[in-house]
Amino acid sequence: MCGIVGYIGKRDVAPLLLEGLQRLEYRGYDSAGIAIQGKPAKGAQSAGLKTAKAKGRVRELEARLPKRFAGTTGIAHTRWATHGAPNDTNAHPHLDADGKVAVVHNGIIDNAAELRAKLAADGVELASDTDSEALAHLIGRSQAPTLEEKVRHALSMVEGTYGIAVLHADFPDRIVVARNGSPVVLGIGEKEMFVASDVAALVSHTRQVVTLDDGEMATLKADDYRTYTTEGSRTAPSPTTVEWEAESYDMGGHDTYMHKEIHEQVDAVDRVLRGRIDDRFSTVRLGGLNLDAREARGVRRVKILGCGSAYHTGLIGAQLIEELARIPADAEPASEFRYRNPVVDPDTLYIAVSQSGETYDTLAAVQELKRKGARVLGVVNVVGSAIARETDGGVYVHAGPEVCVVSTKCFTNTAVAFALLALHLGRIRDLSVADGKRIIAGLRKLPEQIAEVLSGEEEIKELAAEYANAKSMMFVGRVRGYPVAREASLKLKEVSYVHAEAYPASELKHGPLALIEPEVPTVAVLPDDDLLEKNRATLEEIKARSGRILAVAHREQEKADHTIVVPRNEVELDPILMGIPLQLLAYHTALALGRDIDKPRNLAKSVTVE
Ligand code: F6R
Repeated sequence: MCGIVGYIGKRDVAPLLLEGLQRLEYRGYDSAGIAIQGKPAKGAQSAGLKTAKAKGRVRELEARLPKRFAGTTGIAHTRWATHGAPNDTNAHPHLDADGKVAVVHNGIIDNAAELRAKLAADGVELASDTDSEALAHLIGRSQAPTLEEKVRHALSMVEGTYGIAVLHADFPDRIVVARNGSPVVLGIGEKEMFVASDVAALVSHTRQVVTLDDGEMATLKADDYRTYTTEGSRTAPSPTTVEWEAESYDMGGHDTYMHKEIHEQVDAVDRVLRGRIDDRFSTVRLGGLNLDAREARGVRRVKILGCGSAYHTGLIGAQLIEELARIPADAEPASEFRYRNPVVDPDTLYIAVSQSGETYDTLAAVQELKRKGARVLGVVNVVGSAIARETDGGVYVHAGPEVCVVSTKCFTNTAVAFALLALHLGRIRDLSVADGKRIIAGLRKLPEQIAEVLSGEEEIKELAAEYANAKSMMFVGRVRGYPVAREASLKLKEVSYVHAEAYPASELKHGPLALIEPEVPTVAVLPDDDLLEKNRATLEEIKARSGRILAVAHREQEKADHTIVVPRNEVELDPILMGIPLQLLAYHTALALGRDIDKPRNLAKSVTVE
């Protein structure tokens, strides 16, 4: 959600920043902009700042860059609008009144209205409608002697979240950055330094990174960096090496990241299992959990928190934990949980689930829980992300970088990670050796079975063409099938813009059945479990109202107009496989409708604002 990137070194900065912005475009794509320190004439200390901005994608900015835009220090931004419409003026970087300070900002300044009013009362003409512009003016107006102190001074007046990078024409040898609630990662190069919201923008140049903590700032010079708190005391975070290769961020021969990421699931699931299965005791080893057997036995409830698709994996996770570990478990959107003053119970194990590890609502829920003394684990994809660091331990999902705004491989890998966690808790509690063995065998089968599902892509493409013109789509499932229906409905609507609703199959007759007509087909998720007959009765009800039905099942369904048959695994693991054909259905529907698959309208990945 908004991406910032910066560079200081010897190379021509504009192409580097544009490349960084392309890598971060998934975080927002309403507008983009660059500010650089212009190349000073011989003998001069500074040539002042140069900026370029454009509404729309990074390619619009690239087309608009002036011919002479040379420099070796700069910052850039790709925006997902919060305050102010997406247009050229509201695009970052924002400048102060003298044009000496340039700021790029990811986050929300909560007291922006108040700050803007004060600035206006002091005679400052604000050029944009954004919250971020106030920062540039506050820094520009500070009388503090150094850029670091000016930034610190400005931040002391600000309430809200930020990841910022600042240039000042009078301090051309540095970029000053700060973090509070929005990610900031420094990339350490050879006589060059980078900064970005995400390692995606850095890994093709360096894999040595330092992730700033909230309340931390840094000064980057070409051959040096130092970090300190917003109060000014030095900090000394150790650089870490990014695990993911630069190539994992490329499209790898696919037309979209979504397609690539759907097809990567065979390897991704293999990766989340690798090294974790313990055949000797029919369980799994989860090194980072930080929960010993005695503590695991003391857990009386499990509460899983996440947003969007991550929340849906939480619904699957809660069922797995109840089934395998026999601990009462449920999932709730983190965004709701944090605002309802929940009762925090010492015997409840809380689990925060997030691909990015940066989702603000989930992070805020974790912080609130920690403040109240709860034990919180993370099921997270991005190593070293804020949620991974704030939690007491957890399970990494190892899906690799997910670039498409729409989550696919991370959804599946997270569900598998929950199966591992449920098995682990189950084997500490009352799950038998035989059941442990059975689940392990099922998990091992998954990569091959995912490959089998993906091999049916052509058939799903044809089905997508047939259903693409639906007025709306209904998704139903019962118990294990229900989280799959919810996720599939979200997937379809966000990528194809076809309206979709998800209901427990049993709830149809309590109202939504009124919507069923030939133009509103139903996708029914029907695992071959003890509820199959009940689910078939739901199909009858739909058919009786002339509804078309596409079933996802383990065998052909007579009542359905079409059935996508998926391979059988253990019943507890059914949701993992059954979601995959529906990812392809969403993808091919979006393709048939000519949608912008990797960057659906109005959305952005990593929602780091409330
Ligand atoms: C949907 C999707 C979103 C995310 C949600 C949480 O395809 O990707 O619903 O799942 O914004 O993001 P993370 O998992 O990064 O916390």
